[in-house]
Amino acid sequence: MTALSNHLRLGVNVDHVATLRNARGGQFPDPVEAAVCAIRAGADGITVHLREDRRHIRDADVVRLKEELAAPINLEMAATPEMLDIARAIRPHACCIVPEKREERTTEGGLDIWGHEAALTDYTRRLTDLGIRVSLFCPPQKKQIDAAKRVCAPVVELYTGHYAEGREGELARLQQAVAYAASLGLEVHGGHGLTFENVAPIAAIPEMRELNIGHFLIGAAIFTGLEVAIRTMREHMHHAREGKAVSHTSERL
Ligand code: PXP
Repeated sequence: MTALSNHLRLGVNVDHVATLRNARGGQFPDPVEAAVCAIRAGADGITVHLREDRRHIRDADVVRLKEELAAPINLEMAATPEMLDIARAIRPHACCIVPEKREERTTEGGLDIWGHEAALTDYTRRLTDLGIRVSLFCPPQKKQIDAAKRVCAPVVELYTGHYAEGREGELARLQQAVAYAASLGLEVHGGHGLTFENVAPIAAIPEMRELNIGHFLIGAAIFTGLEVAIRTMREHMHHAREGKAVSHTSERL
């Protein structure tokens, strides 16, 4: 997506624009319009999670995103036959494989790649054969990263949810996991629970290549508008890469 090696990509997850739309039925607010706005504000790509229960993003949204957006689309999905068919029809730039439980409010953690190596190897190969870049969402654990490498996925997205909850030792765990995954030749992404307040230490990890951020940005957009929220997040990421702090006084949050 960019030639700058120090550039940290931002994927904006627009699922919760669809959550709001679905609360009333109708067409408003439109997640595709939000995606266009996010790209205009400096996002590098758009992430959507097509869940089995279609609680936010729906099939028609993904089709429209692919038709109306030139930017890369990262389709988060469970490793099911239904989702493979959808990926085959839509051909997003990337698919991020996530675990999915019907009763969860959001993705609660990473995949157990180690425990499902054979199935994930086959699934990854099928997507790769379609020209789709596969990312596996996993906890920052050596065992899972080693398994991702054996599965032949080119990308791992490390779960930052426990870090965002303030769990002790989690930042160090993520720093080590990112460096380890990169040393194996994997491209490393991160996501879950990231905000203006907590993004800097994650953005500063040198081998991190992309962050996928949704819920906080869509919430912040209520107060500042989506473009300002995204530009502010970009600023935090950029300054963290350069070792500078961003003043929170400029934020209206
Ligand atoms: N990355 C993955 C794989 C996710 O499942 C999610 C949540 O859908 C995110 C990133 C974004 O998390 P959040 O909405 O907490 O920013």
